[in-house]
Amino acid sequence: MNKSELTEMLEAMWQDYLAMNPEARQIHQLFSDLNYQVINDHIALRTFDLEEVNIEQMARPFIQAGYEPAGEYHFKAKQLYAQHFQHRDPLLPKVFISQLMTESLSSDSQLLIHNMIAELEPEQLVADNLCYSGRAWDLSYTEYQQLLEQSEYAAWLAAFGFRPNHFTIFVNALTSHNSIGEVNQFLKDKGFRLNTAGGEIKGSVEARLEQSSTLANPVSVHFSDCEAEIPGCYYEFARRYPLDDGTLYQGFVTASADKIFESTDTR
Ligand code: NI
Repeated sequence: MNKSELTEMLEAMWQDYLAMNPEARQIHQLFSDLNYQVINDHIALRTFDLEEVNIEQMARPFIQAGYEPAGEYHFKAKQLYAQHFQHRDPLLPKVFISQLMTESLSSDSQLLIHNMIAELEPEQLVADNLCYSGRAWDLSYTEYQQLLEQSEYAAWLAAFGFRPNHFTIFVNALTSHNSIGEVNQFLKDKGFRLNTAGGEIKGSVEARLEQSSTLANPVSVHFSDCEAEIPGCYYEFARRYPLDDGTLYQGFVTASADKIFESTDTR
């Protein structure tokens, strides 16, 4: 995959995300109206740890396009493992990919997930667009609820399939707002709801990263036995601070990301 193909893929992922999240489109427009440019700090992807679809598989097209692994993170309570990838070109978004430790679920749920993945055609598994191919399997609302009892993450992923979970506005590059607090106030004044798990602002100057996010808006999902509204995707905001050597911290903070995951909780 060359750079122009990568740009096309990122654009396709952005369009997929916007189509499912009218709120994200509104928020992006609000910031675009006030700024010369709105830069995306990172894209987040979710998957299972099964070898056909694990982080390594999802990262393949990005690696081919010049991305490199740049950090890894463990989320013990949520049974997740994540890695982030970045490109030499600082204008390209970082890619944060998490995977669920499938074996942490009940044997019924593990079987359900294995059967879902078995529905993917071999050519889909090796396609560059796997990470935004959506849901290629049948799922009933009952099965969704079964997964939900054990893992919000598993249920979200089963319902939506492989697609960007969120994009992230890089607050440092905004001229309209100087801090995460200002961004949060602006969004609340416009009527958007923020994820308050762990406080509206996650992280700190000392941690070199402050983040906040909206709460995922409800999306109508077609299940095999009914149609139901469940939390979809959200928009994130990140402000990065310099390390001692003067360069901006480019990693993630596990304790903050742990709370950001809860932006798609059904509550
Ligand atoms: Ni994020």
